[in-house]
Amino acid sequence: LTKLEMLYEGKAKKVYRTEDKDRVIIEYKDDATAFNGKKKGTIQEKGFYNAQISAALFNLLEDNGVKTHFIKKLGDREQLTTYVDIIPLEVVVRNIVAGSLSKRLGLEEGYVLEEPIIEFYYKRDDLGDPLLNNSHIRALKLADEEEIKEITAMGFKVNDILRNYLSNKGIELVDFKLEFGKNNGNILLADEISPDTCRFWDKSSGEKLDKDRFRRDLGGVENAYREVWSRVK
Ligand code: C5P
Repeated sequence: LTKLEMLYEGKAKKVYRTEDKDRVIIEYKDDATAFNGKKKGTIQEKGFYNAQISAALFNLLEDNGVKTHFIKKLGDREQLTTYVDIIPLEVVVRNIVAGSLSKRLGLEEGYVLEEPIIEFYYKRDDLGDPLLNNSHIRALKLADEEEIKEITAMGFKVNDILRNYLSNKGIELVDFKLEFGKNNGNILLADEISPDTCRFWDKSSGEKLDKDRFRRDLGGVENAYREVWSRVK
């Protein structure tokens, strides 16, 4: 299959059509944005690191029975995936309090949750991705009750698999964001799983190994992405 015209360009990736209507090629870019696009920059080689990290983690999930869009790696920054219609939800799973949850509930960053929390946000840049509950999701017809159940179960399963795997690599999985899509009525895990979409803390030093280094101007952004890649490759 070859890369034909671009179907879509997002903040961090481009999606290309192929000769097969059920297959697309995703290309990872070096562009970085934060705070709903208000902060912009470039992270050297981010496209490479995120493509490699995401491929490794999607392979791991597939091996553990999670249905995903991922088929295989192509070039250094590209992957072949199943075409999906993205469900406009950002599904966040949290093990440790950080970021927006810390602000919203007044909890200290680093507070370890007794059980993971799942949250849904409406993927709408123009609205600033507002938090939704199940009733909102049904009212907006983004998903029905069965689909919400399936997505929730998949979110927690992904958390169990990733948390255990990363822990063995010396990485604490603090939280992460997933996106799901539909192909022929089946729900597949889609998008990417990378330091752009997860919070990873080094287990021994507590050092942040993710996009918070860019968001909070902590420096060492490229090194952090390279470090995660070196542990999961
Ligand atoms: O900002 P917040 O604390 O809600 O983020 C939770 C998790 O979801 C973080 O790992 C963050 O990187 C990810 N996220 C994302 N894309 C967004 C919002 C959050 O990948 N638009």
